[in-house]
Amino acid sequence: MSQNGTADAAVIRTRGLTKDLPLGATVVHALRGVDLDIHRGEIVGVVGPSGSGKSTLLGLIGGLDKPTHGTIEIDGVEISRMSEDRLTEIRNEKIGFIFQFFNLIPTLTALENVTLPIQFARRARFSPDKRARELLDLLGLKDRMHHRPNQLSGGQQQRVAIARALANNPPLLLADEPTGNLDTESGRIVIETLQNIRSETGTTVVIVTHDLELAKKADRIVTLVDGRIVDAKKTSEIRAALSL
Ligand SMILES: Nc1ncnc2c1ncn2[C@@H]1O[C@H](COP(=O)(O)OP(=O)(O)OP(=O)(O)O)[C@@H](O)[C@H]1O
Ligand SMILES: [Mg+2]
Repeated sequence: MSQNGTADAAVIRTRGLTKDLPLGATVVHALRGVDLDIHRGEIVGVVGPSGSGKSTLLGLIGGLDKPTHGTIEIDGVEISRMSEDRLTEIRNEKIGFIFQFFNLIPTLTALENVTLPIQFARRARFSPDKRARELLDLLGLKDRMHHRPNQLSGGQQQRVAIARALANNPPLLLADEPTGNLDTESGRIVIETLQNIRSETGTTVVIVTHDLELAKKADRIVTLVDGRIVDAKKTSEIRAALSL
């Protein structure tokens, strides 16, 4: 088992991860045995065709769901059989999520959505208002702070969701299609923001994406096909897996 805090320790380690999902009278094998090590400060892109298990994998790593079989360690701590309370603690302390759909609170402004997780943090390290304003500014939303989600475009909502995920400066950031709704320029801002955050704070970033340009900016690409990691090293092989 890896030790907390050592430089080369795997932040994420999965072994034999499977996830079966019941569908009517049948079962969908969403993951079929995934072994994955991700190290501190790495930016890892997860690619693969629609339905290949990318979101399922991210949900398991983030402790949002339990595997059918297999183990998941975060910083050397096995999370797959942990109590909900303890898992919630780990999620709040260590993990920032950017979901495929934004999950913003519709009645709150952009600023309030980003401020909220800082106010909830048990050991808040930031002044909520100041930190939220800085992040929104960084993501090009300075003049949209007081808009509610339905007064923002899809791409702007996406960026608010990213600012919210970064609010408590989590050591691990899990992003599901963070540029899915963005034009090229906004996509570039998001990628640069994630790269800057990584260099400043050593954050580990796992990004699920269909965007090959984004994936290419990762340190490493993991390709999923039909619930398994396949060994696709060349861009042409990844393109083929993505059916591009
Ligand atoms: N709640 C569920 N019940 C049954 N099957 C599900 C459920 N959620 C996902 N699946 C199935 O599990 C498989 C993996 O789904 P997942 O959402 O992880 O794919 P994905 O790679 O994220 O796809 P996309 O690129 O379209 O987001 C798919 O075949 C999907 O249909
Ligand atoms: Mg998905």
